[in-house]
Amino acid sequence: MLNPNIAKLLNEQINKELYSAYLYFGMANYYADQNLDGFENWFLVQTQEERDHALLFRRYLLNNGESIVLTEIAAPNEKYNNFREPLVKALEHERYVTASINKIYEAALEAKDFRTVQFLDWFIKEQGEEEKNAEGNIKKYDLFAGDSKGLYMLDNEMKARTYVAPSLVLD
Ligand code: FEO
Repeated sequence: MLNPNIAKLLNEQINKELYSAYLYFGMANYYADQNLDGFENWFLVQTQEERDHALLFRRYLLNNGESIVLTEIAAPNEKYNNFREPLVKALEHERYVTASINKIYEAALEAKDFRTVQFLDWFIKEQGEEEKNAEGNIKKYDLFAGDSKGLYMLDNEMKARTYVAPSLVLD
């Protein structure tokens, strides 16, 4: 069993990760509508990663004798005005997720729940990667997507992203 507050925060994080998957799924759909199938691919892979994050939080809770409490996932319903906007919103969202994980980390430290602290170490590092990737997409877009040829090439690069299972494995 975990500290009830930690268990609650970890359960809420499942919802946030699933919302992240939903948000990126919506972005993939937006790019599909715009015929940018490389950007679509990038966000579909990101959707899978977020699902994996939710599953890791689920497994950790179960491994510690906690029940999973599922709550409603909000619809993102984002309307985008240009190709750059989802990239900016993705970065903002990753910063929000980082803050959320930091909050659980802080609570776990305070509760001397070092097992959870150790589990969250992977996510602290992962969020560094997530923010770096999201920032990288904006930088590349600003550098290369100024004309249709540059956008075409960047879209091709985004197409090359493939799904890789998370390095954290919980039995
Ligand atoms: Fe699950 Fe993009 O952080």
